[in-house]
Amino acid sequence: MSDLPAPHRLGVLISGRGSNLFAIASAIERGRLPQAKIAVVISNRPEAPGLARAREAGLAAVAIPAQGRSRSEQDEEIVACLRKYRVDLVCLAGYMRLLTPEFVAAFPQRILNIHPSLLPAFAGLHAQRQALEYGVTVSGCTVHFVDEHLDHGPIIVQRTVPVNAGDDERSLSARILEQEHGAYAEAIARVLSGRYRLAGRRYVEVEEAEP
Ligand code: GRF
Repeated sequence: MSDLPAPHRLGVLISGRGSNLFAIASAIERGRLPQAKIAVVISNRPEAPGLARAREAGLAAVAIPAQGRSRSEQDEEIVACLRKYRVDLVCLAGYMRLLTPEFVAAFPQRILNIHPSLLPAFAGLHAQRQALEYGVTVSGCTVHFVDEHLDHGPIIVQRTVPVNAGDDERSLSARILEQEHGAYAEAIARVLSGRYRLAGRRYVEVEEAEP
């Protein structure tokens, strides 16, 4: 990505409260992502609390609900909006919709997602509940490139979190969320630096930005 003129323009997609969105915004404010700017926040749910908070914070915030349309029509509108705001990197942050292959193809290796488990374990909904029910003693979070499969693309950053004996879904989710906030900023910084290449599924750091 380093070939693009700085600052890199992020499009953040949300469906809910948006704590990861605000963790990214705060990383930018604190100078942890000096090459980044949030160009637009998009939610598929107009009532998402994160969308209202984004507006209050002065960010461009757009609701693009399904409104009885097909997924591909909705995704076309989202891609058009991302292009309108000249977005370089798309960050899914609690965005609860699977992207169409056309959306994925519109931003090749330029879409990231965060998931609250150590993938490939516990993909899909209620990852923290799945981890507790399975009985793992360690869980965590994963930031990965998005491909056309659910919670599947190459992994950029993972952080581990212990599962404690007294944990319930709420306490484990809160402990994982703390790690998510740092992990997402770290992954964005890595991708924007351009100092990586993909060897198959493996994310490999390199000295110089790849052309
Ligand atoms: C996070 O746990 C994220 O990993 C998952 O959905 C949740 C979104 O939380 N995909 P928030 O809206 O960023 O607070």
